[in-house]
Amino acid sequence: SGYFTYDPGFVSTASCNSEITYIDGQKGVLLHRGYPIEELAQHSNYLELSFLLLNGHLPSPQEYEEFSKTIRYHTMVHEQLVNFFKGFRRDAHPMAVMCGTVGALAAFYHDSLDITAERDRQISAHRLIAKMPTLAAMCHKYCIGQPFVYPRNDLSFAENFLYMMFSTPCEEYLPNPIFAKAMDRIFMLHADHEQNASTSTVRLVGSTGANPFACISAGIAALWGPAHGGANEAVLTMLEEIGDDSEENIQRFVDRAKDKDDPFRLMGFGHRVYRNFDPRAKVMKETCDEVLSELGLGEDPQLKIAKRLEQIALEDEYFVERKLYPNVDFYSGIILRAIGIPTNMFTVIFAMARTIGWVSHWNEMIANGTKIGRPRQLYTGPELRHYPAKQD
Ligand code: CMC
Repeated sequence: SGYFTYDPGFVSTASCNSEITYIDGQKGVLLHRGYPIEELAQHSNYLELSFLLLNGHLPSPQEYEEFSKTIRYHTMVHEQLVNFFKGFRRDAHPMAVMCGTVGALAAFYHDSLDITAERDRQISAHRLIAKMPTLAAMCHKYCIGQPFVYPRNDLSFAENFLYMMFSTPCEEYLPNPIFAKAMDRIFMLHADHEQNASTSTVRLVGSTGANPFACISAGIAALWGPAHGGANEAVLTMLEEIGDDSEENIQRFVDRAKDKDDPFRLMGFGHRVYRNFDPRAKVMKETCDEVLSELGLGEDPQLKIAKRLEQIALEDEYFVERKLYPNVDFYSGIILRAIGIPTNMFTVIFAMARTIGWVSHWNEMIANGTKIGRPRQLYTGPELRHYPAKQD
C-alpha cells in the first residue's frame, strides 16, 4: 500500500544531508570539506586529512600535534585478538580476516561506550584510525605465516604501516621514503567519497544505534566486492591476464568488455557518479609515474599495458558514449605492487584508508540525530492465497 519512489541501485536518491565531501561527477570535481583533492594530495598528509574529515577544519599546528599523539597512543590492539586471528584458515583472504577482526573490536569497546556522547564518538574514531594499520598488517603476517610485528610510534603513519608489513624478527625493515610518501598519498586518495556503497552501509547499520566497530566491519564487507573496492585487486589480475602490450592483444580485451554476452568488464573503468575523469585517478597516475621513475622502473610492463589500455578505451566509441573513464582503482595497484604489497592486500589498504571516511559519516549522522534507515519495496510476489487444507 502507499506510493513509493522506485530507485533500484539508488541512482537518484539522496539519503542524507552531509557537509563532508562534495563530488561534481560531470566536471570531475572532488572536494573534502571544500578543499580540492588535488591540493590535499599535493600539500597535506593522511593524518591531517583525517582530522579535517572528522572535525570539519584543518588542524592548527597544536591540534595536529595532539591528534597525531592521540593516534599513536591507540596503535596497539588488545593482545587477546591474537587468539581470534588463530581461528582463521592460514590461507584465508585478508579481507575475510579484516571483516572478522574489526568486528571483534566491538567486543573490546562496547559496554562503556555511549555513542550519544561526542567524546566517546571521537575516541572510537581515533581507535579505528590508529588500529586499522595494525590489524591490516596482522592480516598479512598471519596469511604468510610470519609473526605479528608491533607498531612503532616513532614512525609516521605510512612508515609504521610498511614497517609492520615487512619487518621480521630477523630483519628490520626501514621504509624507503619514496614508498612511504606514495603510500600516504594512496591513503589520502581513498579517504572519503560521500555516499558510496560501503559508506551508505556504515550509515544504514549505524542508524540502528549499533556499535561503531560493528558498523565499520559492515562497511569493510561492502567494500570487498569487485564493483567497489575489490576493483583494485581485479585490475592487477586483469593486467596479468592481458599479459602483453601489443595493440591487437589489448584490443581483444577491449572488445570483450564491449560484448554484452561476455561478463568481462574493464576493471578500474567507469563510475556511478563520475561522467568524466575521476580526479583521484589523475593524481594516482602521476604518483605511479613518479614512484616508478624514482625507482628506475619507468618501463614497468604492467604500466605500459595499463596506459595503452586506457588510450585504446578512451578512443573507443563504446567507452566515449557511456562516459567511462579510469577510476581511482586503475593505477593504484601498479604502485602498490612496486612497493611490494601482495595483490590480496590491495582492498585491505583501501579499507584502512576509507575508515576515516566511514567513521566521519557515522559521527556526522549520530551527531545530527537520525531516523533508522528503512527503504521500502515494490512487492512483486503472489497475491494473498490460502494454505491448502491437509488431507487426513
Ligand atoms: N567495462 C565495460 N562496460 C562498462 C564498464 C566497464 N568497466 N562499466 C560500465 N560499463 C557499461 C555497462 O555495461 C553499461 O552499458 P549499457 O548501458 O550498454 O548497459 C553502462 O556502461 C553503464 O554501466 P552501469 O553498470 O549501469 O553503471 P553503474 O553506475 O551501475 O556501475 C560501476 C558503476 C563502477 C560498478 C561499473 O562502471 C563497473 O562495474 N566498473 C568496473 C569495476 C570498477 O572499476 N569499480 C570501481 C569503482 S571506483 C572505486 C570504488 O567505488 O571502489
